[in-house]
Amino acid sequence: MHELKRADGVFRDLRTQAITPDRWRMPLFSAVKKGDAMGAVLHVCMTCRAGQPVLEGEVCAGARLFEALSTAPAPEGVTIRPVECLSACDHGCSIALTKPGAWSYVYGRMTSDDTDEILRGAALYAQTEDGIVPWRERPVIFRKQSLARLPKMEL
Ligand code: FES
Repeated sequence: MHELKRADGVFRDLRTQAITPDRWRMPLFSAVKKGDAMGAVLHVCMTCRAGQPVLEGEVCAGARLFEALSTAPAPEGVTIRPVECLSACDHGCSIALTKPGAWSYVYGRMTSDDTDEILRGAALYAQTEDGIVPWRERPVIFRKQSLARLPKMEL
């Protein structure tokens, strides 16, 4: 099992957290890809339902997206990390890209069909110093489905 991180900053471990099968449908986190410790992190919301009900025995849309992303070859310098809610619940499946000293981005309305483009965008992001990928090089889903960007933290 791998650690699941909530957007509230409270880190929980699936072995101990009280997420019941009735509450969320989640697969086992068996394929988190580890990248450079100072590289980019692609956070994938595991609890997004994309506006759909999750029936007994089904896996929610966010968990399916994480599964698709974590089973594909990870770009160099990118860690794929599951999180629980990015506070963008009304915007389909949500992901976020962060790295030290760089702008961070939150994207919404992602699906498993976007896996290749998400990973391509994450790779481009990881290669920048400031997190700003030239507009024309960004995947269309990153151009059109950005929900927010956050400036780097100034110390
Ligand atoms: S459940 Fe995915 S952003 Fe809230």
